[in-house]
Parts: sequence; C-alpha cells; structure tokens
Amino acid sequence: MLYYFASLLYYFASLQLLISVFDYYKRDMGNKKRLVVLTGAGISAESGISTFRDSDGLWEKHSVEEICTHEALYRNYDMVVQFYNDRFAQLATVEPNAAHLALKTLEDKFDVQIITQNVDNLHERAGSSNIIHLHGELTKVCSMKNENLIVDRNTLPNPLITGKDVAPDGGKWRPFIVFFNEAVPMIEPAIELVQTADILLIIGTSLQVYPAASLSMYAPRNAEMFLIDPKPNTAGFNRPINVIAKGASEGMKEFMEIMNEKL
Ligand code: APR
Repeated sequence: MLYYFASLLYYFASLQLLISVFDYYKRDMGNKKRLVVLTGAGISAESGISTFRDSDGLWEKHSVEEICTHEALYRNYDMVVQFYNDRFAQLATVEPNAAHLALKTLEDKFDVQIITQNVDNLHERAGSSNIIHLHGELTKVCSMKNENLIVDRNTLPNPLITGKDVAPDGGKWRPFIVFFNEAVPMIEPAIELVQTADILLIIGTSLQVYPAASLSMYAPRNAEMFLIDPKPNTAGFNRPINVIAKGASEGMKEFMEIMNEKL
C-alpha cells in the first residue's frame, strides 16, 4: 500500500515538473504567453465615454428598462434607436486613451486577446489585433427580421438609422447591441479563450453583469489574475487576485512594470 502511495506521489510530482518545464520551453520557444484581457466601460472613461453605474453613469440618466432591453426595442423603438445613434455619433468625438494603447503595445511581448463588454471601437482604433465584443458594436446595425444580417453603419446612406430605413430583407434596422434579456452569442468563444490564459487582466468593470462577470471562473488554476479599477469589486473571485486600485491609464503603467519584471 505504502509503495503504491509513494509511486503515485512520485508520478504526480514528475507530472508537475513536466508541466512547468513545458511552460518554460514554450516561452523559450518564442511562444508568447497568452494575456487575456476582459475590459468594461471603465477603460473608456478617460476617453470621455460615460460608464453605466458610476454616479454620472448612463444608467443614472436613462432607465435600462426603457432603453436597453429586448422588450424596449419593440415598445420604444424610436427612443432606443435615438439613444444608440447618439452614442455612435459620440465615437467621432473621442480617441483611444493610454490604457487602450498600452494593450496594443503589450502585443510585442504577449499574445494579447481582448474580450470587451464595450460597444465602442476604441480597442480597434488603438490597433489591437484580437478583440471579441460580448455586447455588440455601436458601429454596426442588423435587421430585426434576421439578426445575422449585419452591416457597418457607414455603408448605409444614413448611418443614423430611423424606422424608415429598411434592411434588404424588409426588416427594420436595429442597433447591433446585446440588450438585456437577449442571448450573448460570443460568450462561448470568450470562455474558450479564458481557459487558455496564462494571465487574466480585468480592467474597468463593476462585474455586475452576467455571463461576462463569470468569465474569471474559467481561467486555468495556475493563471495569474489582475484587476485594474479605482473601485475594485473583488466579491466574485474564487481565488487570489492582484488588485491595482487605480484608473485605467495609471493602472496599466503599474501592470506593464510588473509584466516587464517577469520577462
Ligand atoms: N479607469 C478604470 N476603471 C474605471 C474608471 C477609470 N478611469 N472609471 C470608472 N471605472 C470603473 C468603475 O469603478 C466601475 O467598476 O469602471 C467600472 C464601470 O462599471 P459599469 O459602469 O458597471 O460598466 P461595465 O461593468 O462595463 O458594465 C457591464 O452592463 O449596462 C451593461 O451592457 C452594458 O457592457 C455593459 C455591462
């Protein structure tokens, strides 16, 4: 029995060793470590885009039930469309900030994969290569008859859609936004991505909206986790997390220093 237990222990120890050696050689073989980043409205706050739940947030000024649910789209079509037309128009007045740009810079040394809850296009405009939008994109609209008929607003005669604008299938256009009570089609690819993370970095989200807020649960046991937020919500984590309680730009400076020490 003792011999059996000892060989089991030996077997697991050598397996652990093998994994860390493989990890080391993986990095040595030039495979960049995978840095998966989950971002929320907070990363765009310094660009001048309001968050949702801060004291000056959008949901302080607008009712979610009136603006951002599946039912609201059918009940208050004009109001919903106007709200997202305004947010689309705002994109032309803002720029990516230092935090967006830092994520782009990290691509030199890491395999950076961004999962964003944001519907703005600031990650794209900062030049980031790998971006999943969980909650849709302001720059696109889709048909209410077939939501897979998706077009870029700028390809339409009138990017600021109205109920008079009709999609090729005869349906009215709607914002390409995931409203509350609607499915989140990109959650599966996002989970798969988090499951491959060497490092998980979370920036500027209150972690109150699911399923996005559950993503950290899928990170591998040995993945390091970081949270950058001036008001960090650490309630939902099932393991230690490195908290940087700062704004996105200052927080990213600190994160970059930590990462540079590791390389
Ligand atoms: N830098 C970093 N984080 C910031 C900054 C900043 N300068 N300013 C505010 N924050 C943080 C806040 O402390 C808060 O934790 O950003 C977070 C914003 O939280 P929310 O407003 O709840 O936004 P988010 O978590 O992205 O919302 C999730 O809810 O309304 C829906 O679909 C919408 O995608 C959105 C989802």
